Amino acid sequence: MSNAGHTHLEQGATDSAACSGRSAAVRLVVVGLRFGASFVPIYQRHPDVAELAICDLDPEKLAAVGDKHGVTQRFDSLDTVLASDEWDAVHLVTPVPLHVEQAVAALRAGKHCASAVPAGVSVESLRELVTAQRETGNTYMMMETAVYSREFLFVKHLYEQGALGRIQFLRGAHYQDMDGWPSYWAGLPPMHYATHALGPLLHLTGARATTVHCVGSGHMRAALHAQYNNPFPIETATFQLEGPGISGVAAEVTRSLFETAVTFKESFDIYGDRASFLWQQVPGDQHALIAFAEPGQQEPRTAGLPRKAVTVERPEIPYRPDLLPAALAPFAQGGHGGSHPHLVHEFVRSIIERRPPAIDAARAANWTAAGLCAHQSAMHDGERVDIPMFG
Ligand SMILES: NC(=O)c1ccc[n+]([C@@H]2O[C@H](COP(=O)([O-])OP(=O)(O)OC[C@H]3O[C@@H](n4cnc5c(N)ncnc54)[C@H](O)[C@@H]3O)[C@@H](O)[C@H]2O)c1
Repeated sequence: MSNAGHTHLEQGATDSAACSGRSAAVRLVVVGLRFGASFVPIYQRHPDVAELAICDLDPEKLAAVGDKHGVTQRFDSLDTVLASDEWDAVHLVTPVPLHVEQAVAALRAGKHCASAVPAGVSVESLRELVTAQRETGNTYMMMETAVYSREFLFVKHLYEQGALGRIQFLRGAHYQDMDGWPSYWAGLPPMHYATHALGPLLHLTGARATTVHCVGSGHMRAALHAQYNNPFPIETATFQLEGPGISGVAAEVTRSLFETAVTFKESFDIYGDRASFLWQQVPGDQHALIAFAEPGQQEPRTAGLPRKAVTVERPEIPYRPDLLPAALAPFAQGGHGGSHPHLVHEFVRSIIERRPPAIDAARAANWTAAGLCAHQSAMHDGERVDIPMFG
């Protein structure tokens, strides 16, 4: 953080404490106002956000979002925001190819930075990101919605209570048709945007993916090949995991982006030796929690062999306003499993508390690089690729 930023936060601590009992205050700019617009009212109501501005190249979006939410401070250039001492932090919700370049510029300009996923599009640029974060000491957080969804928070609680037992296998999927979206999506390698499917598996277990084998599948029309030299509408990968209690466990991830008739789905299945969580197959179904009955309870099988009794529950999965400041509770049932206010709260509090956020630069780079390496494997007939470690 620049001296100017630190001064503001320290001064903010004094002023805010005197005025409202708050411990500090952050002045933040949301950059990119399509998906980014959904975060504006959340930041506006966060008790630790002192001022909010918006930024977009598109004057119509800037006017529409500003007028809708009563935001008067508007910028049509990120460079202007970064050159100013008036702002402590930016939340980048801009096109995928811009994330790393803008995040590095923000960190080096003395700003804290949140970024939409994925963190970057090359391993080299991820190194630049991690280096910029370490050298500046500013906060970087990748805003991975999938690790703050109500499903993730529910399963994390089960796992931490020991209800799933030892994890034996994990599976993640993200199916989404991006045909006709802004041009940078056309033909994007599916595994270049794998964090919604892989992130929950790694975050739940605290694991790192060390190696990957991946194959590409299917056929895409030629027009979609050109931009990224990617022939695959779908990629499916197997990752080896490493971490306390999880080494020797594999995770499988499937991503589709084009020309595949499935409903949108970002999901995970977690297989434990006591219980497993299985995501619903089609919208309208409910997720299932399948558990072995108490040890010793066995059902006789017709062939005379033992079979452990299992229970199948369809649990109600709660949203979690209780984890949020009261002012953010009205957003707890919003998009992406209610994750948005939790992400905002974690980013803002990590700045105030001067601690690494839950998905810091190294973790963001590890998760993103795993997908980049998976695509590399797919382009080489599924050969094993070692995934670099970023700390
Ligand atoms: N679940 C999730 O986490 C989730 C969901 C949706 C989108 N995303 C991510 O959020 C990002 C944005 O998604 P989107 O669908 O809104 O993208 P988009 O391309 O439709 O919109 C991006 C916005 O950023 C603006 N913009 C572009 N370059 C800019 C610049 N240099 N400075 C300021 N503004 C600029 C554009 O005018 C546009 O309004 C993407 O990276 C996407 O991957 C994540």
